Amino acid sequence: MSHRVRAEYDLVIVGSGIAGLSFALKVAEAGYRVAIFTKKDKAESNTNYAQGGIAAVTSAGDDLEKHVEDTLEAGDGLCDPEVVRDILRDGPSRIQDLVDLGVSFSSLDDGRISLGKEGGHSKRRVLHVQDVTGKAIEEALLANIAKQDVTLFEHYFAIDLITAKKARKLGVKVGGSGDRVLGLYLYDANRSKVLTVSAPVVLLATGGAGQTYLYTTNPSIATGDGVAMASRAGLPAMNLEFIQFHPTTLHSSDQDRFLITEAVRGEGVKLIDSQGKPFLKKYHPLADLAPRDVVARAIDREMKRSGSPFVRLDTPGMKGDFPARFPNIYENCLKRGFDALVSPIPVVPAAHYSCGGIPTEIDCSTKLNGLFACGEVACTGLHGANRLASNSLLEAVVMAHRGAERVCAFLDSRKKDNITLPDWVDGDVPASDERVVLSHNLEELKRAMWDYVGIVRSTKRLERARSRLLNLEREINEYYWNAKVDLSLLEVRNLICVAELIVRSALKRKESRGLHYTLDYPDLDEEAVNTLVPPLRR
Ligand code: FAD
Ligand code: SIN
Repeated sequence: MSHRVRAEYDLVIVGSGIAGLSFALKVAEAGYRVAIFTKKDKAESNTNYAQGGIAAVTSAGDDLEKHVEDTLEAGDGLCDPEVVRDILRDGPSRIQDLVDLGVSFSSLDDGRISLGKEGGHSKRRVLHVQDVTGKAIEEALLANIAKQDVTLFEHYFAIDLITAKKARKLGVKVGGSGDRVLGLYLYDANRSKVLTVSAPVVLLATGGAGQTYLYTTNPSIATGDGVAMASRAGLPAMNLEFIQFHPTTLHSSDQDRFLITEAVRGEGVKLIDSQGKPFLKKYHPLADLAPRDVVARAIDREMKRSGSPFVRLDTPGMKGDFPARFPNIYENCLKRGFDALVSPIPVVPAAHYSCGGIPTEIDCSTKLNGLFACGEVACTGLHGANRLASNSLLEAVVMAHRGAERVCAFLDSRKKDNITLPDWVDGDVPASDERVVLSHNLEELKRAMWDYVGIVRSTKRLERARSRLLNLEREINEYYWNAKVDLSLLEVRNLICVAELIVRSALKRKESRGLHYTLDYPDLDEEAVNTLVPPLRR
């Protein structure tokens, strides 16, 4: 069954993390009608769990060129230098916006702002709110959204974009030539219904895809929905092979992977091997503060060499007051049975961040007219082959500001059209009939990605992953078109799609660079460029 929303919106945003909320505030302030649809509770997002902070040049001893240099160095030759400079230059102004919205960054006793340090940064430049920066930002943004004329719908899952091309195929008369966005279908999880929404502009701010892996720092919302929707709407995916594995998450015998921020190492804590010895110096001159790809690979190597299922962070060795600087981490470790003041804590890498995504211009526009993307779902050229720590919250706020200006200009100049969109046609088989198959599929997918598309890859492993994914895709397609959709069916379908895009991207890259390391091509190829994977068949 399908239903429609009566109200018309100028901009429909999918996602209520830092990117979606920041974007919404700016466009609503300009007087446009904005709706945000989000698939779970409004605060549930990767943003909400960000710990380390947000990187920007705010101190006298730092400058833009150093931040640019560090970003380019971490990105291993694949960042777009112009984009890097443009985004980082806007950092201080967007930090001021966050302060104006009520984010109260931690400060030192003398009143100066407290700046953390993370891997790959040559200076202390990470503003933070203790070790719960993302939560503080999310709360401030939501509080401001509540004061604006923005409608926020919780528990609505964006299924697919409705494009002119698709509508014409279904016999709808759509003026003009070429393709553009007309609206989207959303699954209303509380009423088990699909909603058809018209909008001249849709912003995808759906975040990352960490849930493609068995072990991840990402919450359950991170299922790559935006990338999958864009691919089905005919857009390519860019640089998806560059999945960032965070080096330090608390080891546990189940799938729980609680992040231990890199800022801990910024305060002097060292990673130690099974003999209790620091080992990072062997791998990089910056040792424990080397870029993330280097540290994650070094840990992987040490674990394989020693046979130990983890390495340790020597937290008792920290000079400052660990519980005062990292209260959330200290508490969470205690809850899981580890007192960071008493013994070094066991850590392992886990999938963390997607450096690739939907290719966008520096104003969030995509190749599909009316479709914009912002935040982790987008690929702007800032991160290249490996994101510099704490550059993603920054990218989201800077790009939201730029994108909002572009969207307002787009809305000012558009001609209104009055098209009745085709209704969603649901199948009759309840997806719940296939619940067991879906959960098996999900498990198989996550394990294949972890085992074959992880920190160290090879062509054979990638091919293995691909053949499993093709089977899973065939299976899900067999019942998707007859099924009454529900949340788990939609998410598993998207995860299979994104995993396939990741594997295809990885197979295309015949070199090792940044986060993509393959035994078959261990060297960097100076001529290699960004990877673009065409849309998958539907
Ligand atoms: P998100 O914050 O993930 O928001 C995505 C939103 O989209 C959510 O509301 C989600 O429910 C919604 N959504 C997704 N799909 C759909 C759909 N189909 N329909 C409707 N809604 C949908 N970066 C830093 O710069 N500094 C840090 O210190 C830092 N620490 C981190 C710590 C952790 C544990 C994690 C997981 C990430 C961290 N990152 C950090 C990365 C950073 O948090 C994210 O990249 C960033 O928050 C992404 O913001 P976003 O708005 O793009 O996506
Ligand atoms: C962390 O706090 O270590 C995560 C920072 C990031 O992902 O940018």
